[in-house]
Amino acid sequence: MFKFVQISDPQLGFYASRHPETEGVEYEIENLSKAISITNEIKPDFVITTGDLVQDRLEQKHVDIIKELYATLNCPYYFTPGNSDLTNTPEKIDIERYRERFGADYYSFFHKDCHFIMLNSCVLSDWSKVPGENVIQTQFLENQLQVGKKFNSKYQFVFMHHPLFGTDPNEDDGHMVLPISQRSLILNLISKFDVKAVFTGHWHANNVISYKNTELITSGPITFPIGEDPSGIRIVEVDEEKLYHQYIIL
Ligand SMILES: [Fe+2]
Repeated sequence: MFKFVQISDPQLGFYASRHPETEGVEYEIENLSKAISITNEIKPDFVITTGDLVQDRLEQKHVDIIKELYATLNCPYYFTPGNSDLTNTPEKIDIERYRERFGADYYSFFHKDCHFIMLNSCVLSDWSKVPGENVIQTQFLENQLQVGKKFNSKYQFVFMHHPLFGTDPNEDDGHMVLPISQRSLILNLISKFDVKAVFTGHWHANNVISYKNTELITSGPITFPIGEDPSGIRIVEVDEEKLYHQYIIL
């Protein structure tokens, strides 16, 4: 039917933050350029990036570099915000700054009978400075899943930065996964509406698990990886029968 590419965590400046002997964003520029040239060869219908575009949200020049590099893609591209783009405890000003730079922080679109829903998982991780924003996200998800069902979507997909859980749906809260209070709401919705897959990043590592009929796919980063998986991108092929996906090392 069609293919798309998931990119996660370009996070310009992360490598230098972990390697005090270096500075700048050359590491990420090189990897993101490679990712974009591989993507242009693959010729997907579009690219979705699941957050953490930059390490320091206040470095406007890093945002400018991200925009310049993405503009060299030969297909449409979509973003979802990550905690580095908004901070771990986002405030209204962080969300507004993100929207000015990259557009809506949550939205959806249809493509060839499939429904793609983008969430701002940062406010599902910590909504203490923006009370109610978490409720807006879960209500948006439910409304959109209903819309997708009404229009008989072949598949519905969800994209956000934070994974729901690592191995066990009941595992403890922590920086790496959404808190149980929000996780359980989302897990209920994705199983009720039979979501085909949830794509996330944040870990700088791959993790592919499932919850009932839904595949939960966490993809490695463009920037410096944490763990054994090298930096890469994920190519996803959607056909009538099934979803195929493969992590391609840069
Ligand atoms: Fe992150």
